[in-house]
Formats: sequence, C-alpha cells, structure tokens
Amino acid sequence: MKTIVITGGAGFIGSHVVRLFVTKYPEYRIVNLDKLTYAGNLANLTDIEHAPNYTFVKGDITDAAFLDAMFAEIQPDGVIHLAAESHVDRSITDPMSFVMTNVVGTVNLLNAAKNCWKDSPTGFEGKRFYHVSTDEVYGSLHNPEEFFLETTSYDPQSPYSASKAASDHFVRAYGNTYKMPVVLSNCSNNYGPNHFPEKLIPLMIHNIQTNKPLPVYGKGENVRDWLYVVDHARAIDTIFHNGTLGETYNIGGFNEWKNIDLVHLLCSIMDRKLGREEGTSAKLITYVTDRAGHDLRYAIDASKIMNELGWKPSLQFEEGLEKTVDWFLANQEWLDNVTSGNYQKYYEDMY
Ligand code: NAD
Ligand code: DAU
Repeated sequence: MKTIVITGGAGFIGSHVVRLFVTKYPEYRIVNLDKLTYAGNLANLTDIEHAPNYTFVKGDITDAAFLDAMFAEIQPDGVIHLAAESHVDRSITDPMSFVMTNVVGTVNLLNAAKNCWKDSPTGFEGKRFYHVSTDEVYGSLHNPEEFFLETTSYDPQSPYSASKAASDHFVRAYGNTYKMPVVLSNCSNNYGPNHFPEKLIPLMIHNIQTNKPLPVYGKGENVRDWLYVVDHARAIDTIFHNGTLGETYNIGGFNEWKNIDLVHLLCSIMDRKLGREEGTSAKLITYVTDRAGHDLRYAIDASKIMNELGWKPSLQFEEGLEKTVDWFLANQEWLDNVTSGNYQKYYEDMY
C-alpha cells in the first residue's frame, strides 16, 4: 500500500484532490495534512471522511519538528503539496503569513520528505514530491497574443505570487541539489464547489443572492483563464502518476474572460435561477478601487500537459459555471457557515 500525504486537503482545490485519490485509489492510504485555517473546512469532505483509506491530521507546515515526527511515523511514499495562503488581497495586507506558510512551510516539507526518504532502505526510489503552484508566478501579460509557457521567466508582482515563486524555486533547487524526485505544476484560476467566498466567483454568487453590491475592481478589464476545479484535480492525478520527474506542467482551460464579462454572465445565470427579471442582478455591479498592483492578464498555454500526458479539460465554461451556481444554491448551509465563521468555532472545540 502506498501512503500519500496531501497538504491543504481541507481547502478548495485540496478537497477535490483528496476526494479523487481516496475514491479512485482504494489501495492508497491518503493522509490529509491541514492546519484548518479560515480557508480549511472539513465539511468539504464529509462524503469521504469515513473511507477506510483516508486519515485527517491537523498540523501546521511551518512547524518543522511536527513534520519530521509525522513523516518518521507514517513513512509516506508521496507528497502532493497544496497547503498555502492563497488569496492575493490578503497577501497585500499581511505578506508575512504568506512568507511563513508558502515559503518556510514548503522548505520544511521538502526537508521532512528528504530526511525521511534518504534514510529509508530504498532512498528516493519510488518516491515523489509534487508541488502545486500558480500561473501568477509568471506575472502579467500585456501583449494579447502572448501565453505563459513552462519556459516563461518568473516575474511575480504580488506578495502572494512572490511567495509561490520562491516556493517553486526551492522545490526545483531541492531537485537539482539533493536529486529529490520533484515535479511541479502551475495552474490558472480554478472555480467550482467549495470555493471560498472571498474569491471572485463565489463572492459574486453570494452577494447576488443576498442583494449586496458586486465589487468589480478598477474597470473590470483584467483577464483571467478559468478552469473547473475537478479538471485541475484530474490534471494533478495525471502529473502525479505520469509526469516526468524534474519537469513543470502548465495547466489551464484556454478560457479567458474579462472580469466584467464574467460578472455579467453570472448575473444573468443567477437571475434565471432565482426567477428574477433579466438585468436585476447586474444593477448591483459597483466599480471599486482597483487592487494594488493588479495583474492585467493571465493566460496559460496548456499544450505540454495536453500533448505529452493526454489531459484535457472535461467541461465547457458555461456548463461548469451552471454546475457551480447550482452547487452554491443547493449548499446554503455550507455558505452560511463559511461566511459566519461558524465552522471555525466548531474546529476550535473539536481539535
Ligand atoms: P485554499 O486557501 O482554499 O486552501 C488552502 C488550504 O491550506 C486550507 O485548507 C488551509 O487550512 C491549508 N493551510 C494554510 N496554511 C497552512 C499551514 N501553515 N499548514 C497546513 N495547512 C495550511 O487554497 P486553494 O485555492 O485550494 O489553493 C490550493 C493550492 O493551489 C495553493 O498552493 C495555491 O497556491 C494553488 N493554486 C490555486 C489556484 C486557485 O485558483 N485557487 C490556482 C492555481 C494554484
Ligand atoms: O491564477 C491563479 C490564482 O487565481 C491562484 O493562484 C490564487 O490562489 C487564486 O486566488 C486566484 O487569484 P486571483 O487574484 O486571480 O483570483 P480572485 O478571485 O481574487 O480575483 C479574480 C479577478 O477578479 C482578479 O482580477 C481580481 C478581481 N476581483 C476579485 C474580487 C475578490 C474583483 O474585481 N472583485 C472582487 O471582489
């Protein structure tokens, strides 16, 4: 039996990765390591929490001693590292927590895996450290013809993307220096069930539902490439199993949207779902002060993973957005708990 540690498994993307691995690989033991910050929510995993091959461990990746002890005890064969501080706006007000979790936490995890694996009878043989990263490390595109390739130079522009870029460099440096078996991916914007409502799509859905203003930063002209979260989880599965060690894979949906066009599309879907007259929700759109240092456009060229590993997105955007809206409308309790912070109080008593 293989033991795989998935960090950040109680978060948005991590919960979909944990679900996919627990259900698709009953022969693996999946250990979900998560600190349960404001963004970690075990309600994302209630359907699989009693699976015999699933274990949850509450822990902080900034705690090196804890990680060393945990790795010595469970002797994992693989690590899929998603734990991070993930919200750009929070990184602008509190950069140090991003340095601690995203940079120091990643190096702690690399050290824990390296020390555990190099002392094992088979060394690095059959082991794999997979680092999940973002397209934001490449910076902002200004030429509409340009896409981010795996060879694009790093040019991070926010404290969040700088911290993710630093973590990517450390992972590659451990691959080069210690010959650790590492693999990386850089993905575009995800959307779907369990998305924390500080991010654009779930925030807009929640505000439309509750008739609050829809804050569009600047002129709404910034462009993002959106991918359904389950397709990202499928890509992570593909890369973890078939990606070449030492390589990086860009993941994206070839699906670029200007923020304002996306918000209008969401308004129109929500009007239909809530039985409101078309145009009602759009009246809530409010242009607000732009994000400091706001990157203009991200666009991933995902040809490498598509051509070399045979992955491709399974959903069209409109279909994925409909599914997402349906999920939020059907999971009002999840949204209420998250927006009120109730789930965090629950974990404070529980763990
Ligand atoms: P998220 O904020 O929803 O979840 C992060 C998870 O990490 C939470 O469960 C949180 O409790 C946990 N965590 C945070 N600090 C921790 C610590 N010190 N120790 C242990 N656990 C900790 O994030 P997400 O959107 O699911 O992103 C997951 C990963 O994917 C991140 O590395 C992010 O950079 C990357 N990524 C995200 C996107 C996106 O669109 N959301 C796109 C590309 C890459
Ligand atoms: O590109 C991948 C990245 O996508 C991930 O690495 C990050 O973890 C993830 O948070 C996301 O970053 P963004 O900054 O692109 O996502 P966010 O949802 O915060 O914002 C999307 C766009 O919408 C961005 O141009 C800012 C804008 N926006 C956002 C919010 C929250 C608004 O106009 N209004 C808002 O209220």
